[in-house]
Amino acid sequence: MRLEHHLDIHLNETRQFLPPVEFSSTAKIDAESYAQLQKEAQENPVAFWEKAARNLVWKKPWKTGLIWNAPKAQWFAEGKLNVTESCLDRHLATDRRHKNAIVWEGEDGEIQKITYEELHRQVCQLASVLVNKGIRVGDTVAIYMPLVPEAVVAMLACARVGAIHSVIFGGFSAESIKDRVNDAGCSLIITADGGYRKGQIVSLKKNIDKALQEQACPTVHTVLVYRRTNSDVEMTPGRDVWWQEAVQNLEKQDLLFDAVSVDSEHPLFILYTSGTTGKPKGIVHTSGGYLTQVAATTSWVFDLKEDDIYWCTADVGWITGHSYVVYGPLACGATVFLYEGAPLHPAPDRFWEMIEKHKISILYTAPTAIRTFMRLGDAHVKKHDLSSLRLLGTVGEPINPEAWMWYREIVGGSRCPIVDTWWQTETGAMMIAPVPGAVITKPGSATRPLPGIQMDVVDGNGQSCGTKMGGYLVARHPWPSMARGIWKDEDRFQETYWSQMPGLYFAGDGARIDEDGNFWIMGRIDDVVNISGHRIGTMEVESALVSHPLVAEAAVVARPDEITGQAIVAFVTLKENIAFDGNLEKKLMQTVTQQIGSFAKPAAIRFTDSLPKTRSGKIMRRLLRELATKGKITGDTTTLEDFSALVALQQEEAL
Ligand code: WT7
Repeated sequence: MRLEHHLDIHLNETRQFLPPVEFSSTAKIDAESYAQLQKEAQENPVAFWEKAARNLVWKKPWKTGLIWNAPKAQWFAEGKLNVTESCLDRHLATDRRHKNAIVWEGEDGEIQKITYEELHRQVCQLASVLVNKGIRVGDTVAIYMPLVPEAVVAMLACARVGAIHSVIFGGFSAESIKDRVNDAGCSLIITADGGYRKGQIVSLKKNIDKALQEQACPTVHTVLVYRRTNSDVEMTPGRDVWWQEAVQNLEKQDLLFDAVSVDSEHPLFILYTSGTTGKPKGIVHTSGGYLTQVAATTSWVFDLKEDDIYWCTADVGWITGHSYVVYGPLACGATVFLYEGAPLHPAPDRFWEMIEKHKISILYTAPTAIRTFMRLGDAHVKKHDLSSLRLLGTVGEPINPEAWMWYREIVGGSRCPIVDTWWQTETGAMMIAPVPGAVITKPGSATRPLPGIQMDVVDGNGQSCGTKMGGYLVARHPWPSMARGIWKDEDRFQETYWSQMPGLYFAGDGARIDEDGNFWIMGRIDDVVNISGHRIGTMEVESALVSHPLVAEAAVVARPDEITGQAIVAFVTLKENIAFDGNLEKKLMQTVTQQIGSFAKPAAIRFTDSLPKTRSGKIMRRLLRELATKGKITGDTTTLEDFSALVALQQEEAL
């Protein structure tokens, strides 16, 4: 793998912002305590994280802070806990019992408020239902839900019985569900009859039925269906059960459910993410270490206080939703705001209207959303009183300085610090981010590694690049919330993350460190596209395209996109002697939507007679990327086997 020449848009960014005095004077961590944290962490990172782990509820204390046998980590070894006791039970003994854990707004404007006591009750009941259906410690359960509070209940109920959840984002197609359910060997699926999006009903249950038809997922014995939309669904007798009925039929003694204690290293969940091959990777996260780091970072980076109303706009189908909608904030006893629907529905000011109405104080969203709002104009934002906001966060892809400045000035009224947080599905929790009351921020930089995290930028030999050069972003020391593996694929875990540079975790991103020690992320260096913060392997989209009977070959590349960060351009060759079908582009788009989901749809499809390849037959995506981005090739073409393909494509582009 080699580092591509990334356009470094941040190179000239020299603006910097001190933490506002009004903010830092009341912040949980000010400059002084931050320095103290850094010092403790540097002296002994394991002891540092052990101290953080003591903020959780443990059933049995751990014996060893860290057992590190690269790439296998065991954090808080031999400790026992159940994460839901930290997220729910412990709050019931305090004033938080009657505090709202979740404030939810449906797309149609319906509002629900759920206290910690009530959330605990719902989780206990669903846990009983799961056990009645035969679910035991270590079983895998798929969750395919709209963004309703019950999605959170489903995750926590799995955790409470020691089952491993695999949340599948509601935008995924039947085909993607099938692959994920089979890979994880799920015995039960939790879904809903449907969900609302842009005023329409998304037929979740129908997708599940399609994924399961003809015994395609032989491990699944039960489908639990939450009635949300009252839409018509078919219930397969012996397999499908209504959630509400199952809860109603519980015996009295099942209304409470004691959390099952599991090992600190017991898997909490699997979450599938894209890699460079067609097959998604089931990233495995465990219990004690994961919760320690998500809880600590939630508290530090969001400066979370008792009366904050906190809104992370991510869906629970992504890692951001796991770590910063559910586990981190609930472990901290926060009030979490949840919104079911589409951001611009029914009007472009929906977000701002809700922030004003619910007095949201912390907003955590993605650059793609920020750019969308920016393009719609300031008026929609300015129409609303956003003075409740005190902190703004961003995650998912590099944020360009203009969008950062707009977020700061227009949304945050130049009063709220911005936390740009770098992390990944694999890291489980934030790794590089400012602690807002202490760290100077620069637009476009995630600033520096959090206390207890050791990151670096290195060359291909693992040598530090210093401040002059870009290179590969790596982690030098294990961290508590790190992925413990890829589900049923140890070798791939080792190969993907731990074999590029011996002893170092390789994140797959290019980066640069400036003279003040700030990290500037330059994006992915492998064949992974990041659209609106969703990582999609180019191979997955290629596989979908090639599955169409008329397509011979496909190469997918990313080009920068103002709104979505990156957009997909697909180059497609057709089988010989095929009469050209004017609707083919539309049909191919449909194929991708069916197999992966509409978010992976190419922005453009280019038909070509052949693709540029190396002598060994590898498609030279680098050249296609250049073509898609700049419209011409300027880079090295000496390894190209047949130049004519490229010439034809370039000529076409020039027209
Ligand atoms: C990739 C991870 C972490 C949750 C959402 C995405 C990119 C993420 C930032 C940031 C620059 C970022 C990286 C990373 N990324 N956050 N603040 N600045 N790039 O999780 O799907 O696992 O994707 O997203 O390229 O490797 P993910």
